[in-house]
Amino acid sequence: MGSKYREIKLRRKKLMAQMEPNSIALLAAAPPRVRNSDAEYLYRQNSDFHYLTGFTEEKALLALIPGRKQGEVVLFCQQKDKAKELWHGTLMGPDVARKELEIDDAFPVDDMDDILPGLIEGRDRVYYSMGKDDRFDNQVMNWLKVIRSKAKIGAHPPGEFLMLDHLLHELRLIKSTNEIKLMQQAAKISAEGHKRAMAYCRPGIREYELEAELLHAFTRNGSRAPAYTSIVATGDNACILHYIENDSEVKAGDLVLIDAGCEYGHYASDITRTFPANGKFSPEQKAIYNIVLKAQLAAIEAIRPGVPWDEPHNISVKIITQGLVRLGIMNGRPSQLIKSEAYKDFYMHRIGHWIGMDVHDVGDYKIDDDWRLLEPGMVTTVEPGIYISPSNKKVPKKWRGIGVRIEDDVLITRNGNKVLSAGIPKTIQEIESFMAQTVH
Ligand code: GLY
Ligand code: MN
Ligand code: MN
Repeated sequence: MGSKYREIKLRRKKLMAQMEPNSIALLAAAPPRVRNSDAEYLYRQNSDFHYLTGFTEEKALLALIPGRKQGEVVLFCQQKDKAKELWHGTLMGPDVARKELEIDDAFPVDDMDDILPGLIEGRDRVYYSMGKDDRFDNQVMNWLKVIRSKAKIGAHPPGEFLMLDHLLHELRLIKSTNEIKLMQQAAKISAEGHKRAMAYCRPGIREYELEAELLHAFTRNGSRAPAYTSIVATGDNACILHYIENDSEVKAGDLVLIDAGCEYGHYASDITRTFPANGKFSPEQKAIYNIVLKAQLAAIEAIRPGVPWDEPHNISVKIITQGLVRLGIMNGRPSQLIKSEAYKDFYMHRIGHWIGMDVHDVGDYKIDDDWRLLEPGMVTTVEPGIYISPSNKKVPKKWRGIGVRIEDDVLITRNGNKVLSAGIPKTIQEIESFMAQTVH
């Protein structure tokens, strides 16, 4: 019995223990997505489904039915099919899946419409992730109709539909030792990509050449895809938060902002570094960079169990606002500029987000109306930034077009935190000396 599937089995047990009495939970595999004609995007399993099965095939459904005597965990998946497998690769098939994934029962997905109404019938409640996939919503409603049509002969349709997300996402928010290992590996591979790009950078190349360095490191180390589309933004492009064209020329005197992370074993990393194209920061770039760095380090320093989610953000807002006032980029009292949210002209996003199987991972940030407290096993990004729009006429010209973000992935540990994405040059001195060894 592989420890991977043992852990996954435990997750299902934990989830089922929290479900209301006499209920059923339904989770579908991600649908394949067409790119054009019969070419599909690279298939990526739905994270919730993968978290509870470890199964990577499409056209599958998991039903969890706590208390069902004939078996609580039922999987529907594609049958073995020689012709299909010749074109698309091996299918596990229900028999092997049942043993391999340690589930109670497995059926061909083609029989799902015949079998599922019978599994739902007699349950008071149905948990599923409503409103995310029209086709799945329709499918569930159709199964319900089948049960209703048999009400006259005594069938008992469910009375309540509940969102599965909350219970499941609270589990996903706290990462296990095995999950942390995968996230650490994802971050390590991404760190290598960032270093390759930094080392390769020189004026005159195009942004996509740096993207190629990232992808080289990701793929070379077993990552199948980036966790999100890489941002490689030089000069003014760094002030566009989700810039992904990545085709401008890298010019001497410009900063390069790279926000990129690989996905490894279905876990994401999300890292940003900003560095000078020619290996040397200008005085203005240095001044802005050091404010962001100070904010990022202070925010990371504050991260430990028991700290409210928004505290690192508030720390970063304070340091960035004070720094911008000191440089004369903003005028007024920092406390007033924070209250009026004037700082949002330069720092318009929050400091970070949960990260896990999804880059913007699941889990609530508030409990009732209060920011939740950090707990061991949570992983968050810490990514403050300053972006001075090239068209901001209120700011002296020399500052315009500077965009800096620094982002790391931080695990909350029992006593504090651990930066999973450590090891990439981050201080001005580290970046300049690293690039001095490589810039031509
Ligand atoms: N790369 C997306 C983000 O930093 O949230
Ligand atoms: Mn990012
Ligand atoms: Mn991020």
